[in-house]
Amino acid sequence: MDLKSKLRHVMGFPKEGIDFIDITTVLQDPEAFRCCMDAFEELADSMENFDIIVGSESRGFIFGAPLACKMGKGFVPVRKRGKLPYKTISAEYDLEYGKDVLEIHADAVKPGQKVLIVDDLLATGGTAEANIKLVEQLGGKVVGLVYFIELSMLKGREKLKEYKVNSIVTF
Ligand code: PRP
Ligand code: MG
Repeated sequence: MDLKSKLRHVMGFPKEGIDFIDITTVLQDPEAFRCCMDAFEELADSMENFDIIVGSESRGFIFGAPLACKMGKGFVPVRKRGKLPYKTISAEYDLEYGKDVLEIHADAVKPGQKVLIVDDLLATGGTAEANIKLVEQLGGKVVGLVYFIELSMLKGREKLKEYKVNSIVTF
């Protein structure tokens, strides 16, 4: 299936000049969603074996959690500041204007555990870097990062040179 053609482009969202790639048209189409999850599994399988999947709020949950379940792995949520109930560690990351903070439970990744990071989109790579920092601070080893969509113009991959990065579709 041509998954690229199933994605909707919304011009001018969230502001003028932006071509927003909308994943909801894939999610609401059972065949396309299944095909997307199968493609995720194939890319994840091409990485070194891993123990858990880490996914970031909120779109990282949409693909990360079902992929973990499908592959018989655990899922660890990374959330925006103040959402996780237990002890956390945090990492700052760059937004277009300013900074934000992502958090992970302090006991969510055990030292030596192998981690696959999953998200819907690789753009500047800022979110990815924060996820890597969190996992590594807890002693985890990132075996790779897997995305549905990669925006190659934004050069996120250059920030992730030391890691294996796989994407289903690239624009
Ligand atoms: C989007 C997207 C990725 C991130 C990619 O998340 O879901 O997580 O941006 O951009 P980057 O590579 O430049 O960091 P967003 O922070 O908009 O939040 P959402 O997942 O809650 O929609
Ligand atoms: Mg996100």
